[in-house]
Amino acid sequence: MIQKHRAVASNKLDPKADAFDSAPKEFVEMRHKLNDRTARIGVIGLGYVGLPLALAYSKAGFHVTGIDMSLGKVESLRAGKSPLATVDEGLVRAMSRAGRFEAAFSLEQAGDLDIVIICVPTPVENGEPDLSAVVRATEAIAFHLRPGTFAILESTVYPGTTEEELLPRLAASGMTADEQFFLGMSPERMNPGSDWDVTQIPKLVSGIGPYSTELMRILYETILETVVTVSSTRVAEMTKLLENSFRNVNVGLVNEMAKVAHRLGIDIWEVIAAASTKPFGYMPFQPGPGLGGHCIPVDPLYLVWKAEQHGEQMPLLVNSQSVNESMPCYVTARIDSLLGGVAGKRLLLLGVAFKKDVDDARNSPSAEVAEKLDSMGARVRYHDPHVPELMIGNRLHKSVADLETELELAECVVILTDHSDYSWPVVAQRSRLVFDCRNALGGMTSEHIYKL
Ligand SMILES: NC(=O)c1ccc[n+]([C@@H]2O[C@H](COP(=O)([O-])OP(=O)(O)OC[C@H]3O[C@@H](n4cnc5c(N)ncnc54)[C@H](O)[C@@H]3O)[C@@H](O)[C@H]2O)c1
Repeated sequence: MIQKHRAVASNKLDPKADAFDSAPKEFVEMRHKLNDRTARIGVIGLGYVGLPLALAYSKAGFHVTGIDMSLGKVESLRAGKSPLATVDEGLVRAMSRAGRFEAAFSLEQAGDLDIVIICVPTPVENGEPDLSAVVRATEAIAFHLRPGTFAILESTVYPGTTEEELLPRLAASGMTADEQFFLGMSPERMNPGSDWDVTQIPKLVSGIGPYSTELMRILYETILETVVTVSSTRVAEMTKLLENSFRNVNVGLVNEMAKVAHRLGIDIWEVIAAASTKPFGYMPFQPGPGLGGHCIPVDPLYLVWKAEQHGEQMPLLVNSQSVNESMPCYVTARIDSLLGGVAGKRLLLLGVAFKKDVDDARNSPSAEVAEKLDSMGARVRYHDPHVPELMIGNRLHKSVADLETELELAECVVILTDHSDYSWPVVAQRSRLVFDCRNALGGMTSEHIYKL
């Protein structure tokens, strides 16, 4: 059953207003520590998800220890610097000065913690989910488990992970789950590069039993406007995969449409704008050079793998994945044909981050396009206000310094990631030939402008 709670100051943390009178003492103690903010929180994995979450709990009044195996990250945080452009350095300093945030390399170093939240990566390795970081973090928590410990998983995983991978490892302590220790799952929904603050996005919470679920609700309501409880950790895990698969499939659909529209001599962007006038039953998605990052192209594979374990196939997801994966090749082929061959041609690529307004070029289709053009003999240069350096082929490239001159010198300018910093009229005016994969130039039409 789904229950939506809006945090309201007056009844938010009222310990009397509950049906947990005969609860175990560990539950009562943890609830008390949440109410008076004395629970000590640890967050394992200080990346795009873990660091903002750790700081949100610090801001809410908790003492938080951020734990990361990266020496560079921990040292940078200890020096009051944010290792991520998306995280406010001022907040890191303020929370550290207030004595509510510190960084550590391990759980041992973090000392006594009441709550430990796992935010480590969950990549795909050889087409299969790689839960090794989650398992390592769980084993570390299991080693330090004591009565009252509250463990939480935020990483994106396939349905069943919390019950099948975390619970048995923690229960091996001999302590009773949901009575002597607590375990919950809350998938992160953040969207780096967007205006959404983590605390404004309604968050799903779930637990392995009623006490864990209730503690999840109370804990997350200390930092969030809207908390939605679901009936099991499996539901929370699968909901996250539905959300990201929905995006993957719709982007796959519109990428496929874009290829066909080009063949038919139709402007896909005009088609999307026209379809968007329908007030119901349609939601616009944009085509592009492919899907990047470590969520949308990766997470559906977790579901496909789990489905296969249970004898089910997910052909729709598999196909949308392959359409999206074909886009860097498709874009490269279009540029090659536009130029009558790219070998020896000077190209300027705009934007290599995996999406607009982020500084992350890992798993970026734009970077893949750069690689392919380089391997075809093009003289590739790039500009990205957020990515100062990028390996293309076996050479480290730097983002070009003089953008306007480079626009003029390039035989073709390729718009791959449409960061907000760019002045598109300048790009259109200065370039000799433009291939626009994002409709960044919108309604501008000219003989030297070509679109995906
Ligand atoms: N980035 C996003 O926008 C986003 C959004 C929603 C969900 N997620 C999910 O959240 C999880 C984390 O993603 P992220 O983007 O924050 O990853 P990230 O790569 O930015 O950060 C992960 C951090 O974990 C650290 N780490 C890895 N293993 C560790 C271990 N065993 N002990 C301590 N530290 C360890 C790494 O050094 C790194 O700093 C993933 O499951 C991801 O799919 C990410």
